[in-house]
Amino acid sequence: MALTKRPYDGKTLAILTGGGDTSALNASIEAIKSRSSALGFQVYGIRRGWKGLLGDGDVVNLTNQPYDGVYGGTALRSSRTNPFSGSDTSRVQQIIDNLKRYKIDVLVTLGGDDTNGAAKQLYELEGIPVIGFPKTIDNDLRTKTIHNYNGEMIEAVMCPGFPSAAKGVTELVTRLATTAESHSRIMVIEVMGRDAGWLTGAALMGGAEICLIPEIPITKERKEALFEKIKEVYHKSKKQYLLLAVSEGVRWYDDKTGKTEVVYASSEVDEFGHPRFGGISGVVASEISHKTGLDARAQNLGYLARSGDCRNYDRRLVSVLADKVVDLLIREDYGRMPVLSKLSTYQELEVYNTDTIDMGKIENKPLPEEYYISEEFQFNERYIDFLSYFIDKPKQIRFDYNFPKVKPFK
Ligand code: F6P
Repeated sequence: MALTKRPYDGKTLAILTGGGDTSALNASIEAIKSRSSALGFQVYGIRRGWKGLLGDGDVVNLTNQPYDGVYGGTALRSSRTNPFSGSDTSRVQQIIDNLKRYKIDVLVTLGGDDTNGAAKQLYELEGIPVIGFPKTIDNDLRTKTIHNYNGEMIEAVMCPGFPSAAKGVTELVTRLATTAESHSRIMVIEVMGRDAGWLTGAALMGGAEICLIPEIPITKERKEALFEKIKEVYHKSKKQYLLLAVSEGVRWYDDKTGKTEVVYASSEVDEFGHPRFGGISGVVASEISHKTGLDARAQNLGYLARSGDCRNYDRRLVSVLADKVVDLLIREDYGRMPVLSKLSTYQELEVYNTDTIDMGKIENKPLPEEYYISEEFQFNERYIDFLSYFIDKPKQIRFDYNFPKVKPFK
């Protein structure tokens, strides 16, 4: 049989991953690689994000190579290198030179607003053909995904990587219940997510009865109300233990300084100006013990949330978004990013619910207020409905330990 010429034979597409990794990155790379190879593209991988286009470049050939899209993280490695920052002002020129040296025709950037924002600038300022692809466990990119909750249309977000991370958080929190229960403790569980509370909400599905989010600071007044809530939930429940989830980016009132601030893990900032959060769970647990007399412990889930295999929902999500990348390639429509426009009950239909957005207009999207009840310090039914698209509904308490009490002999 004669080989037919494919539309992009002789062209090269390169993929890079920037920013924090997720469990869905290899799945995204695999989905984009397989579709663009079928169109005839030679597919390259650029290693360590934008760093792989600096200096001599660090580029590998993925065409015809086996690839594992279930294994989490990114085989291309990642970095937080910013083409537009640092003392080296020649970075943009180095990127342009390397794209020419390696004869790269199209660049697909897998990232959050930092990576894709830089890509868009390179497209606008230098005419480099780029296509963005969303990823973040924080779920804070504005994908304009509509969540239909009993007829109420809520503008939600659906970023590859988030569903796997959320499922992971649910499972980890579920595990912590047994030790919290055994010691009748309050377990304060710290969850990543930077300035957005989406991921912390997944703790609810694992049994967290109180969830604190960065969108609503814990001021002096709210802190007092929180301690009252903790006592109420702890004592009223038959369980005599409590799981409390706190986002790493929560601003917390400090009795000594009188300021309501984030707790930082270090004073460093990355090339995009982001500081590193971490340690709020320790502060909250020690204050709970001190102020309520209840035994509290801290557990930071940290990087566990973004580690491990890609889950099924993410696998299918990146597939439909990769189909949209093909559309953009064929139309030579650059500077755009595929997104899921609507959550669908039948995931097979998601293929009809995709769209593309301008990479220059991506904004950070905090958790919508429709999902949270501020005075309850908790997410609501709408958010449970949102999460139930990719996480099973919370389990009921497994046992009711109703052992008969034994009286001592007189
Ligand atoms: O943006 C993703 C994220 O995991 C955040 O939730 C977290 O604050 C940050 O990255 C941690 O970054 P790093 O990997 O640089 O420590």
